[in-house]
Amino acid sequence: MALFNRGGEQDVDLSKGALPQHIAVIMDGNGRWAKKRMMPRIYGHKKGVDALRDVIRACDELNVAYLTVFAFSSENWRRPAEEVSFLMGLFLQVLDSEIERMMRNNIRLKIIGCREKFSAELVELIMSAEAKTASNTGLCLTIAADYGGHWDILNATRALLQAQPELVAGFDEDAIKPYLAMAYAPDPDLFIRTGGEQRISNFLLWQLAYTELYFTDLAWPEFGRTQLRESIAWYQQRERRFGRISEQLSE
Ligand code: IPE
Ligand code: IPE
Ligand code: MG
Repeated sequence: MALFNRGGEQDVDLSKGALPQHIAVIMDGNGRWAKKRMMPRIYGHKKGVDALRDVIRACDELNVAYLTVFAFSSENWRRPAEEVSFLMGLFLQVLDSEIERMMRNNIRLKIIGCREKFSAELVELIMSAEAKTASNTGLCLTIAADYGGHWDILNATRALLQAQPELVAGFDEDAIKPYLAMAYAPDPDLFIRTGGEQRISNFLLWQLAYTELYFTDLAWPEFGRTQLRESIAWYQQRERRFGRISEQLSE
């Protein structure tokens, strides 16, 4: 099937296999991308927002059910104060200005992570954006902000023990799952990291156990619809065995 995108160039053909239901992305390389262009790191972060908009649109177009993006890690507080405060300001501003677009596009927004260090204004905006989009039925967009995989597992364990202090013998995978930050979504099928690093950097540690991992040297501001489709085409070539052997999969 010949598919063409808006620019008229030949599109990446995704008709050959199943699409991922859930895509998780580490949007990395903004700062280095800007530096290479003799621009301040914050310019890269601004361009990163444009790349995210493009990827959201592409996921929407493909009917991907869940898109989860890492915007700020538990460890990113270690950055220079000016960069941290710029990122917090950008988060606030983008949340505020994009909410109408999300409503128009039927997007359900979720924010995961520890909110304790955010300003009251940001926490309020997060809560109202989540509430406003809660009954939308299209793409579920999750933004991980002040998120860490370690935080997620500890937080879930604490919440579980608080709810069921008597639980010792019954403490197993199924007991903890409902308390993890992404209990509402299936685990990611496809993970994408831009920026050239091949590491997880404390992203979804529990949830990535069987995810297909895709790394690209492109910086996040260089990533968009076409690159997303290329990563999905790569995903479609993978055989997902979940511990079984190949021959069992057709059974
Ligand atoms: C990712 O880009 C965005 C955030 C972590 C907020 P970086 O800011 O890490 O950019 P590089 O990796 O330094 O180029
Ligand atoms: C991971 O990127 C976190 C986000 C993209 C939000 P980092 O740039 O912080 O990761 P490290 O420090 O290189 O591992
Ligand atoms: Mg980085």
